[in-house]
Formats: sequence, structure tokens, C-alpha cells
Amino acid sequence: MQKSLPYLAILIVLIYAIYNAKFRHVKKIETKTVSNYTKHIKEHTTSHYEEELLKLQTTQYARQYIINVINHGSKQFDFKGGEMEGGFASKKDAPKIACYVLELSGKQCKEPYPKDAAMFYSSICAGCHGDDGKGLGGTYPDLTKSKLLGIEKREMFLKSMITRSK
Ligand code: HEC
Repeated sequence: MQKSLPYLAILIVLIYAIYNAKFRHVKKIETKTVSNYTKHIKEHTTSHYEEELLKLQTTQYARQYIINVINHGSKQFDFKGGEMEGGFASKKDAPKIACYVLELSGKQCKEPYPKDAAMFYSSICAGCHGDDGKGLGGTYPDLTKSKLLGIEKREMFLKSMITRSK
């Protein structure tokens, strides 16, 4: 028994060394992979933000924003008139009304909108935003602004996220 003690000690040291080498190694790789992954996700998200920022000035972007507001409403500002609920117009009518709204700020959709869009606007939207779209003296958002408030807000958000990641 006494004779085998040194061998036993060596064996224990060996097992410990193997265990240590193996698991420490794995841990190192894991940490590296996770941090690369996080970096990758961050870069990826930032490139999406940059892409969106480029599109933000386009009429197409404004059109989509207005359609979203018509369908889902808007609850992001602090107007005397309160919040806007979604669904004042049907999903089918939303795109042509959006084109009419764009014209209020001098923009134009690719396709001409059907004539009844103006009728829809004046019977559904004008009660709050006014026939001229100017928002009844500040009670409601002014739809004739060249950049709508929601788009301005999104632009600020995107810019801040991009600066933060650099
Ligand atoms: C009952 C009043 C009311 C009606 C009707 C109404 N809105 Fe609004 N709208 C509001 C209010 C209030 C807001 C701002 C809400 C907020 O986000 O705080 C708003 C916001 C908006 C915005 C965002 C403005 C910006 O600067 O970002 C758009 C676009 C818009 N409305 C279009 C329409 C259209 C198009 C219609 C008709 C289909 C319509 N609204 C009908 C009250 C109304």
C-alpha cells in the first residue's frame, strides 16, 4: 500500500490536470463565441437602422407610416385632442387615403389615388385634422408638415441608436 501511494498521487494530479485543461479550454471558447455573437447582432441591427434612416426621407416611407397610423392608431404625442384610435377607415381604404394625405404636404404617390379618397378624408379624418389638414389650430397634428412628427421621432431614435453603437 505504501509503495503505491506515490503512483496514486501522480494519478490524482494527472486527472486534475486533464480535467482542468479540457474544461478551461471549453469555457474560453464559449466566452469568445458569445461575445462574437453579441457583436455580430449589434452590427447587424445597426446596419438595419442605417438602412431605415436612408429610406426615411422617401414618400414611400411616409405613405407606409400614414397607413400604419390609420390601421393601428397613434398614441405617442400629447395633443389636446388626445390619442387617435386605429380603424377609422378600413384596411382597404387606408392606402388611398394615405396618398391623399401625402398630397397635403406636396408629395405624391406613384399611382394616382382614386377620386373617392378625398371624400373619405373629408368625412372621416377632417373632423379632427381639418379639411386643410392643419390640425385645427394645434388641437390635432398638422398633416401638411413636410416631415410628420412620428417620422421625426423615429429619425431621432435611429440616429441615437447608430451613434451609441459607434
Ligand atoms: C378623433 C380624432 C381623429 C380622427 C377622426 C383622425 N385622427 Fe389622426 N390623429 C388624431 C390625434 C389626436 C393624433 C395624435 C395622437 C398621438 O399620437 O398622440 C393623430 C395622429 C395622426 C397622424 C400622425 C401625425 C404625425 O405627425 O406623426 C396621422 C398621419 C393621422 N393622424 C392621420 C389620420 C387620418 C388619415 C385619418 C382619417 C382616416 C385620421 N388621422 C383620423 C386624431 C384623429
